[in-house]
Amino acid sequence: MPPSALAATDSPILRTQLPGPNARRIIAADERLISPSYTRSYPLVAQRGRGIVVEDVDGNEFFDFSAGIAVTSTGHCHPEVVAAIQKQAAELIHMSGTDFYYPQLTELAARLSRIAPMPGPHRVHYGNSGAEAVEAAFKLARYHTKRQHIIAFHGAFHGRTMGALSLTCSKVQQRRRFAPLVPGVVHVPYPNLYRRPAGTEPEQYARDTARYIEDWVFRTEVPPEECAAIIVEAIQGEGGYLPAPSAFLQELRRICDKHGILLIIDEVQSGMGRTGKWWAIEHSGVAPDMIAVAKGIASGLPLSVLITRAEIMDWLPGSHASTFGGNPVAIAAALATIDIIEREAMQNAKEVGDHILNRIYDWPQRLPLVGDVRGKGLMIGVEFVADKHTKAPAGEQRDHIVELAFEKGILFLGCGPNTLRICPPLIVTIPQADLALDVLEDCIKRVGSGKYHRPSWGEEVGS
Ligand SMILES: Cc1ncc(COP(=O)(O)O)c(C=O)c1O
Repeated sequence: MPPSALAATDSPILRTQLPGPNARRIIAADERLISPSYTRSYPLVAQRGRGIVVEDVDGNEFFDFSAGIAVTSTGHCHPEVVAAIQKQAAELIHMSGTDFYYPQLTELAARLSRIAPMPGPHRVHYGNSGAEAVEAAFKLARYHTKRQHIIAFHGAFHGRTMGALSLTCSKVQQRRRFAPLVPGVVHVPYPNLYRRPAGTEPEQYARDTARYIEDWVFRTEVPPEECAAIIVEAIQGEGGYLPAPSAFLQELRRICDKHGILLIIDEVQSGMGRTGKWWAIEHSGVAPDMIAVAKGIASGLPLSVLITRAEIMDWLPGSHASTFGGNPVAIAAALATIDIIEREAMQNAKEVGDHILNRIYDWPQRLPLVGDVRGKGLMIGVEFVADKHTKAPAGEQRDHIVELAFEKGILFLGCGPNTLRICPPLIVTIPQADLALDVLEDCIKRVGSGKYHRPSWGEEVGS
């Protein structure tokens, strides 16, 4: 399928050493002026984007297999999204849906209601970021149930505002020196099929991991009648692109139903067609009570949505709102994005994703550094290990592979301690994916052979 928005470029083009002179100048200013809390893996300074191509400030053209952290679902600057933004920006940029009405709020809500992964009727609450959607879910769960406790998972990433951070349990630096966090959160193990105890059968292991909540937490720590919600990513994103087994999610649903607990699915990274279905949770057949959506929904404009079964969203005026949430321009981008995903990009994500997985499924057998490959659609993780037997994480080698791929013109990002994520825009073609995989395989071999020497910027920029 030739996606309509694609740039003509059929391979990365590197015109300067990396980083080029303009990039160096901007990075120097960035180091003086911008918060040092950001984590940059390599010195890409973007100027413009089109389809899967990002051009930097020195005229180098990269293939973007990170999609700006799984955000530019329709590719960079898809003409239909750009046109929708321009049209809306010329009519009404802002009015604040918290205090006034405008038609875009209900238009997108109705559209989302048609594709939500649970039966309607639904209600939506608008925000600007993934963390805000999660904050809304956290607060609404407490408000609706009048219960305090929330269960989240080891390895989870739900954002960095205080409430969302309290649910996040991904990297200790994200929490260091911010305590005390919001009380009432309990973290429990998330299933990792690759690292499950030897001899355990996958489905039983997945069920037992969920049952820890009933068998242990509800007996020792949290009375189930005081538990408001369980929040889970259907595919852990920042934690390492780890799909939750269906049996695990089904067991969570059973536990929630039994104890009157709400099941919140965080689809901020996995949603909006990325896995070949609208929502990753759909692969399991589980219907959640609430779903948090952001990243890919508006192709790069800031927008997030909390969608719930209508009767859950029963808070009174003043309970929760955001000045910018549901901005008309962002909603216009979202409506155009949904059109494109529905028409071509979701099916393309499935086809190209299957192609990628078929091409790399034997990497763990063929490449000494690769321990596991996994994923759905265009949300694919490649996990690196120093030793296949002990599965000792090869985090440093993962970082080197990401750096080397950048030097060869492909943008990847890491996730978890030792995994690389493959999450290009959903309009990527099979030839583009093949080219990126050729480069990636070559990088893995070079780093594996010990012949790779970090570039000088590697020490400066590394996360
Ligand atoms: C699953 C998940 N939830 C929430 C967030 C937070 O989103 P944001 O950075 O937009 O606040 C992220 C960001 O990576 C995420 O992957």
